[in-house]
Amino acid sequence: MRGRDVLTITDFTRQELEALFEEADMMLSALKEGRRLRVLEGYVLATAFFEPSTRTKLSFQAAMLRLGGSYIDLPPEEVSSRAKGENLADTIRMLDSYADAIVIRHRVEGAARFAAEIAEHPVINGGDGTRDHPTQAMIDLYTVRKALGKIDGLTYGVLGDLKYGRAARSFILGLSLFKPGKVYLISPPQLACRRDVLEFLEERGVEYEEASSLASVVGELDVLYVTRIQRERFPDPAEYEKVRGSYRVSLEALKGAREHLVVLHPLPRVDELAFDVDATKHAWYFTQAAFGVPVRMALLKMILKG
Ligand code: NCD
Repeated sequence: MRGRDVLTITDFTRQELEALFEEADMMLSALKEGRRLRVLEGYVLATAFFEPSTRTKLSFQAAMLRLGGSYIDLPPEEVSSRAKGENLADTIRMLDSYADAIVIRHRVEGAARFAAEIAEHPVINGGDGTRDHPTQAMIDLYTVRKALGKIDGLTYGVLGDLKYGRAARSFILGLSLFKPGKVYLISPPQLACRRDVLEFLEERGVEYEEASSLASVVGELDVLYVTRIQRERFPDPAEYEKVRGSYRVSLEALKGAREHLVVLHPLPRVDELAFDVDATKHAWYFTQAAFGVPVRMALLKMILKG
């Protein structure tokens, strides 16, 4: 893993992800026991987020600090040289010369790959447009493994904006590296999963079914992955209005769910996941967000040190 870029989840093998999860388990124990680690002492991570972020950016920064390393953060557009018209390539070149690795988030698909072609140091994709969010998928799969002890053989429902959501897309692709029992792709028809993802599932022999409502499948699920509608990605606001509020996971919607059902959400949530689910055993999404730190610690260690 040393020196690797992290651009899309399918660049990784199941074995590599399993090794990452084992490393993350060790990081989690260290965090729980309050053990201070210095594995990345002297290392610097650059975080370059050209799109809003709370969890991804802060958990990468926390992960670096927890390993004894440090980070530098690209300032918002108004107060960095981008306001003077600096291009992305030059910005990346600079970060590459200041840091040992770069995490980038950008609204343009392929921006992370572009950065990786310029930078000598590893580039981690913290989300590019509607396409990839590989480290989110790593966290999501890790959470399933922690909650249910395995990833294989389970029945999954992925609900929401499967067209524009990079977290949903990356989770679905990530599942295909394992042997899920069945994957239900649940969305309003306008937000259905893209053809390339379905083809990938077919190639990998993953059994999937598209569904338009949660109600018809909720009783079968072991894991329900909920996502928000990616309003900012819609080319036409009128199209957003047509699907807005078209699904909502609440206590009522989970009647008939299996007792052990694990509800995940990459967050932020808007109105698709009701607060009344938070107090139930199904709610794993805050734990999932918390796992962002140990999983990203494990990844940074593996990439920077091997
Ligand atoms: C996601 C993202 O930015 O793609 N958030 C995250 O990183 N946890 C999901 C989203 O914005 O809906």
